[in-house]
Amino acid sequence: MDKKLQLLAKREKALLGGGEERLAKQHKKLKLTARERIDLLLDKGSFEEIGMFVEHRATNFGMEKSKFLGDGVVTGYGTIEGRLVYVFSQDFTVFGGSLSETHAEKIVKIMDLAIKNGAPIIGLNDSGGARIQEGVVSLGGYADIFYRNTLASGVIPQISLVMGPCAGGAVYSPAITDFIIMTENSSYMFVTGPNVVKTVTNEDVTSEELGGASAHSTKSGVTHLTAVNDVETIEKTKRLLSYIPQNWQSVTPRKKYNLGEEYRDELCDIVPESSNMPYDIRNVIKGIADEGSFFEIHEDYADNIVIGFARLAGRSIGLVCNQPQSLAGVLDVESSKKAARFVRFCDSFNIPLLVLEDVPGFLPGTHQEWNAIISNGAKLLYAFSEATVPRITVITRKAYGGAYDVMNSKHIGADMNFAWPSAEIAVMGAKGASEIIFKKEIREADNPDEMLKQKEGEYAELFANPYIAASRGFIDEVILPRETRRKLIKAFAMLENKKERLPDKKHGNIPL
Ligand code: HXC
Repeated sequence: MDKKLQLLAKREKALLGGGEERLAKQHKKLKLTARERIDLLLDKGSFEEIGMFVEHRATNFGMEKSKFLGDGVVTGYGTIEGRLVYVFSQDFTVFGGSLSETHAEKIVKIMDLAIKNGAPIIGLNDSGGARIQEGVVSLGGYADIFYRNTLASGVIPQISLVMGPCAGGAVYSPAITDFIIMTENSSYMFVTGPNVVKTVTNEDVTSEELGGASAHSTKSGVTHLTAVNDVETIEKTKRLLSYIPQNWQSVTPRKKYNLGEEYRDELCDIVPESSNMPYDIRNVIKGIADEGSFFEIHEDYADNIVIGFARLAGRSIGLVCNQPQSLAGVLDVESSKKAARFVRFCDSFNIPLLVLEDVPGFLPGTHQEWNAIISNGAKLLYAFSEATVPRITVITRKAYGGAYDVMNSKHIGADMNFAWPSAEIAVMGAKGASEIIFKKEIREADNPDEMLKQKEGEYAELFANPYIAASRGFIDEVILPRETRRKLIKAFAMLENKKERLPDKKHGNIPL
């Protein structure tokens, strides 16, 4: 025990004195150790370690001779901006950060504490996977973690930082958590690595190509955020946490905000005159949200929909916005899945939802149909329909077809739907609609092209506006772009104490 106490004293000394200089040096290299990562993540001096003296119990392969205090994972609790969080940080220098029985027990212990005490859990993953020398007890340890990830889902926020290897079944813990943040060029996630891939499919692929941050942020959508190095990974984690509450029964702390007149003239000129011209929906978000508060999630994946957090008069909200700049803002398989999961997260954790809608419909094609746009589009429909948080939609331009229903319409439980005067709400676009319903007149006309144009004009005049929907009460108010922020601040304040109960059931059956 003497040796252990000496080690403890040495560590204390490093943290309390001289440690900062060492940390500063390390930060330059930007690849940090497990403890340095925790030090950077948590408020200074707030970390309390649990289980520092834990050692593995393995005896095979001469393992009894090589034991390390803590067994490759640093666990404990501390604060971020004064708010309690639980953390574990895997130490790659101890058996490659691999997960032994005791390593798993340490993680499980703080997961249980986090669940019971209603505070987020943040996992810093850097591990070669199951501790090979331990066999099935290590697999059992993983399953113990996956089980708790599942039980904790919707109870406390769970954030996974992937800062090194994360391979094999190990990927399923981050996968169940709410957010994954990967460090570029030093992390990778895959179920089977390049060697197995080569053997089975004869593909030549590097770890980075197969499961690096870039692959998972653009191709698979597995990771929600990426960062250039350890330091940025940790900074992004802190920012993310600032938008989300401690647990499902609490709300995110509000930032101080003094209300002004809140009109934003810059919103007037964003939607182009021609309804087929693209524009960047982020400019609308910028004009609505508190300055600099938009924090985009899944930025490089399915960019025909933009999702993220922002603040409105200091209050955290979740945004789901069609992006006319990409694929004209259509809903497709990827964008539906991306948005649905985000809606579920916001609803689980009392974060009100704002939808900015400019959608020409669902993307047609065999690729979409064969990749189940039916079930995937239904995910988003289901997620919105089941959400009980305050929900508001602003239709900036197109709201066509089934996508009108899906994008948080009043029919599926939205509290308020606003539309700009530029809104077009109809079953389909004027050209397509005219070709179908005036087929005979167009065919028999002396000049079919001219007849199509005329009919298109008639149809557009009748439907390409928000007033029919407003006359039905499907739109609560047609508002000017410049007053949008003001209207939304008032409407979300009005909905602040919303209480809604879904019918009693065990749980629904979302079309997964
Ligand atoms: C025990 C491990 C280990 C593991 C690495 N080490 N992975 N020890 N169990 N899973 C040890 C190495 O022996 C080495 O010890 C040290 O960690 C550093 O490893 P290196 O290979 O030298 O590092 P590097 O070259 O950076 O390569 C990292 C790596 C590689 C790519 C992660 O180590 C690797 O491929 N490891 C095995 C990965 C794997 O197949 N894991 C099982 C996945 S299946 P010394 O003493 O030499 O420093 C799985 C199932 C989970 O996890 C199922 C859950 C349901």
